[in-house]
Amino acid sequence: MTVFDLDRGREVLSFARIGRLRNAVLTLSAVRDHRGELFPGEATYAATVADKRGREFSTGRRVAREGLKRIGVEPCEIPSEDRRPVWPEGVVGSIGHSRGLAAAVVGPADAFDGLGIDIETENAVSGSTADRLLTEAEHAWLPAPEWRTMIFAAKEAVYKSVNPIVREFLGFQDVEIDVDEEVGAFRARCIEDRPSAEAIAAGYGHWALYRAHWMVVFEIRARRGAASEG
Ligand SMILES: CC(C)(COP(=O)(O)OP(=O)(O)OC[C@H]1O[C@@H](n2cnc3c(N)ncnc32)[C@H](O)[C@@H]1OP(=O)(O)O)[C@@H](O)C(=O)NCCC(=O)NCCS
Repeated sequence: MTVFDLDRGREVLSFARIGRLRNAVLTLSAVRDHRGELFPGEATYAATVADKRGREFSTGRRVAREGLKRIGVEPCEIPSEDRRPVWPEGVVGSIGHSRGLAAAVVGPADAFDGLGIDIETENAVSGSTADRLLTEAEHAWLPAPEWRTMIFAAKEAVYKSVNPIVREFLGFQDVEIDVDEEVGAFRARCIEDRPSAEAIAAGYGHWALYRAHWMVVFEIRARRGAASEG
């Protein structure tokens, strides 16, 4: 996968683990005010939200459109439906933002059923919050405290990849992340059998630490019959 840092105007992380994801493009930039560049429906929404949210939302749209351009899709409006971004025909993607950075991942729908991205500052999750977000097995695995945040970001990326397909709410104790450090990827599984379980079990996760943020992407490669799930 190519990763473009729009602030640096170049491709980055070509050898990081996250670069193993093929056929998708990840774009990121610092959060700034891009409300003036929004399409009409997006601008109508942005006018109703607080300043901080407007900056994050507009930067998310900007990086997503840069990603679309790089996979050959004309810049277009990206509406939301129940907060889920609605991608143009033939595209699957995801958007995430922290206070400082926004990132998007996009890819062709014939390669992916789902893509999810999350971006979090390196130590966003404190020990007490982690008790609620991580399972016992995840706690037992943690190699260092900052990996709590990686696991949290992984769960949000999993959710964003699968929720548009199955439309089922999943809590943080419903899904467990299993990191394979040797391979440099992670798998995820539903702790109990539920509608999202099959899609999640088919997915792979990738991560990178960049600009003091965990960037985590979960991909569910296109599988025959997945469209009839849920
Ligand atoms: C949806 C959710 C993951 C978003 O996370 P967040 O910390 O609020 O915000 P982020 O910056 O990471 O991501 C926000 C973006 O996610 C996307 N998003 C929101 N809801 C989504 C959904 N249901 N499916 C896919 N993407 C979604 C949107 O693009 C949104 O940005 P935008 O509104 O500017 O377009 C979170 O609000 C949530 O509901 N979490 C609970 C479910 C969960 O994560 N379970 C974990 C176990 S699987």
